[in-house]
Amino acid sequence: MATSLLAAALASCMAQADGSTEDEAMIDLAWDSGCFNCHDLDKSLRGPAWRDVAERYRDDDEALERLVVTVRDGGSGNWGEERMTPNRRVAEEDIKRLVSWLLSLPPAEEES
Ligand code: HEC
Repeated sequence: MATSLLAAALASCMAQADGSTEDEAMIDLAWDSGCFNCHDLDKSLRGPAWRDVAERYRDDDEALERLVVTVRDGGSGNWGEERMTPNRRVAEEDIKRLVSWLLSLPPAEEES
């Protein structure tokens, strides 16, 4: 699972002209922060696929601020029955970088 996610991420980096080192750094950070225990970029696991999160909040200017708090304190009921437990172990600054990056993910079909 780790390998396939990384392969997918690398493939998506190659498809995008810029930002590949940024993407790699963010993927590393997401692994280190434990996000990928429950999330994947393209698939719903326990939590929603991050591309779906990006899609839902694409036009929402306040999403970043709000989601940083949600990720830090945990949340439920926005995507289903599963609950996101608090991520207080992760520095708020890192959460902010992660959320702002995942919100910028393009939909999968734009990448082929
Ligand atoms: C224990 C499993 C788990 C971990 C670890 C986890 N998440 Fe989640 N995440 C979830 C679940 C479940 C949801 C859906 C919650 C809901 O329905 O409101 C979610 C939702 C989200 C959302 C959307 C929230 C909303 O209100 O729409 C974002 C953004 C997110 N996670 C980012 C992260 C980031 C960044 C990390 C790592 C720092 C992380 N998650 C770690 C399980 C997890």
